[in-house]
Amino acid sequence: MQSKTIAALAAATAFATTFAPPAAWAQDTIKVGVIASFSGPFADYGKQMQGGIKAWMAQNGDSVAGKKIQIIYKDTTGPSPEIAKRLAQELVVRDKVDFLAGFGLTPEALAVAPIAQQAKKPMIIMNAATSIITTKSDYIARFSMTLPQISAPMGDWALKNKIKNVATVVADYGPGIDAEKAFSDRLVKNGGKVVEAIRVPLRNPEFAPFIQRIKDAKPDAVFVFVPAGEQSIAFMKGYRERGLAAAGIKVIATGDLTDDHVLPAMGDNTLGVITTFHYSAAHKSPENDAFLKSFAATNPQGGRPNFMAVAAYDGMNAIYQVSNKLGGKIDGTKAMAVLKGMKINSPRGPISIDPTTRDVVQTVYVRKVEKVNGESYNIEFDQFPNMKDPGRQ
Ligand code: PHB
Repeated sequence: MQSKTIAALAAATAFATTFAPPAAWAQDTIKVGVIASFSGPFADYGKQMQGGIKAWMAQNGDSVAGKKIQIIYKDTTGPSPEIAKRLAQELVVRDKVDFLAGFGLTPEALAVAPIAQQAKKPMIIMNAATSIITTKSDYIARFSMTLPQISAPMGDWALKNKIKNVATVVADYGPGIDAEKAFSDRLVKNGGKVVEAIRVPLRNPEFAPFIQRIKDAKPDAVFVFVPAGEQSIAFMKGYRERGLAAAGIKVIATGDLTDDHVLPAMGDNTLGVITTFHYSAAHKSPENDAFLKSFAATNPQGGRPNFMAVAAYDGMNAIYQVSNKLGGKIDGTKAMAVLKGMKINSPRGPISIDPTTRDVVQTVYVRKVEKVNGESYNIEFDQFPNMKDPGRQ
């Protein structure tokens, strides 16, 4: 009996030695599948996230708890929920990832939520900002923002600064509708008035006719949410060309409009624009200095990092913390328990993950575009600390 066991053991050992898996096999790696657009109109979203991930890994190494961190990037070319869903399925079934991450655009995050739920894969949101997203799977944690969290404070700030009659312009999909509602509800509650509410299509909006309508309504200010990037440039161009500034109509917006990455290219017509947001490249802290330095070193062609790069950097921080706590053995349910209540000293300031909603809690800053050494920056001058998503407090 005993000799049989020994023989079996010897055979097993011989098998294990002969067929020992190479170092890069699944058990030695923690795999992170990053789904975002790396081409098409929102290509910058993926690139900013990749930049933030690289910045994190350059500072913190590429292994945790004895395992190599492997990042698998997938391009949705989006906005494309169908492609995002197919890519998530491939990552789960074929690549056997431990984490899903990325998600610049709300429709893509919503399309992947049921897969995270079914496969019990932690899904780390690095931008998509419609409030409802985190309710679509127990496995989602958001490290970016929600539009209501950012927009409601602007409703307070406007009234305090004698801006009473406001026209709103938002992209006609989840985050835009969230921004419009949160801002308008707060403005009206404070005694202000929405004189015109305009929704523009997500794809290739033509701003000129909408901007004329705003001018005709003669508000004190126009409140804007458009997805960061090309549309910000198009809106500000129309604002200048149609003479809204000359007519004394101010721009107040979520910081997507004056996104740090495109701001240097937007010209002087952004000077004086007031926004509320969670991150500015001009934020003064040792954490932000270290982030900016690492981003510049790892992304020599990357320009200025924006809020998506920071959310990706923090999302990686979270993935490293989870991997460490679980000793490198990733179980989706245990990972969520670690994510709930997690605290991070982010380049934007301190953040935490609300244990009930799995959404980020953070300071929302009021900023003004100003020139510093000849370059435009969002300069923070007021703040709303500890903001949760106001819809779900
Ligand atoms: C989103 O689709 O959720 C989204 C996209 C761009 C932004 C903010 C939110 O700037």
